[in-house]
Amino acid sequence: MKLPLLEDLRPLQGKRVLVRCDFNVPLAGGVITDDLRIRLPIETLTWLLNEGPEKLTVCSHLGRPKGKPDPKYSIEPVRVRLFELLEAAGASTNRVELLENLRYNPGEEANDPAFVASLVEGQDLYVDDAFGAAHRAHASIVGPPQFLPSAAGRVLAREVEVLDGLLQKPERPFVAVLGGAKVSDKLGVIDALLDKVDTLVVGGGMCFTFLAAQGHSTGGSLLESGHVEACAKVLEAASAKGKKVLLPSDIVALSPGGVFGAGREPEGEMADVGADVPDEWLGLDIGPGTAAAFADEIAEAATVFWNGPMGVFEDPRFAAGTRTVAEAVATTKAFTVVGGGDSASALKQFGLDDQVDHLSTGGGASLEFIESGDLPGLAALREAAARQAQR
Ligand code: 3PG
Ligand code: MG
Repeated sequence: MKLPLLEDLRPLQGKRVLVRCDFNVPLAGGVITDDLRIRLPIETLTWLLNEGPEKLTVCSHLGRPKGKPDPKYSIEPVRVRLFELLEAAGASTNRVELLENLRYNPGEEANDPAFVASLVEGQDLYVDDAFGAAHRAHASIVGPPQFLPSAAGRVLAREVEVLDGLLQKPERPFVAVLGGAKVSDKLGVIDALLDKVDTLVVGGGMCFTFLAAQGHSTGGSLLESGHVEACAKVLEAASAKGKKVLLPSDIVALSPGGVFGAGREPEGEMADVGADVPDEWLGLDIGPGTAAAFADEIAEAATVFWNGPMGVFEDPRFAAGTRTVAEAVATTKAFTVVGGGDSASALKQFGLDDQVDHLSTGGGASLEFIESGDLPGLAALREAAARQAQR
């Protein structure tokens, strides 16, 4: 996919540039717990500053404050970290402004033309480096490219290059490993992936709806009973297409009434129950046999895409499956791409986040890109480039 790039904006001397980043970082009590989304676009910002613009107006959303100011989602901690990182990179920050959380204004999510007008007012150029938000048709993403010469920043351009490469010309075998809680969120991407991959590996809470489709009992585990049929269809479609689907053959479960979760006093008994979870037991991780089979598949792959944990890894009793998969992804010779969100935090928790080829900054965005091959933010940039070319 061809996007307009920073170089296409030259010359930048004396120009005022609006830059959309995705600084939607995790916060705990106002403290940033992972600053990756601020660190990565520093490359874009320093490139821009070196081109001698008059001013960079940087903007982002943070959390979901629902269209009104909420001190919990103040951009202030981001501003502090951003300026520290820019200074550490040798950039002078006196030409940089960071706007307050875009989602304090209801016009952002509503894509209100009046809010777009206020954003582009006084600006000459627009740079989008917010891959994580490129699936949102929000004012700051799709609005400015209608009015300003526009380009993708380095983070956005790299994400699209890697994910597009995955879809267009993956080295085979191509193995996709999916986990996470809800299968209903992933049915679209599973459909798309079945046309691309050789093997689909399914763990996490979403595996129980597949196991139910195969006639297994799932006890009290997460089950989306309205989607059992859809999972059965996925399994049929996969076999018709000659694709392998690997599902858990054993599950680690917690006894009835047990307590689980990060930072909770652990209660109850855990057991490897095979593929059938007894009544009222909760399946919370893939078992060791399954994890080893998944790891073998990953070891033999040439391309791996991983999105979603294999179990409730925040609770150490149910982290082993995710850890085995994370280690397999970290050590395989395959080209490895990890979708953002929980799989990224799992890698970080295990200290393996620097051992994958591409750690996407967008969870939802990377899945939507794989599903549809495009995103509203990318289409807006291409349209801007087409308009520019006509001038
Ligand atoms: C993300 O964290 O997924 C992106 O920043 C988008 O945020 P959103 O899911 O609240 O739109
Ligand atoms: Mg999200």
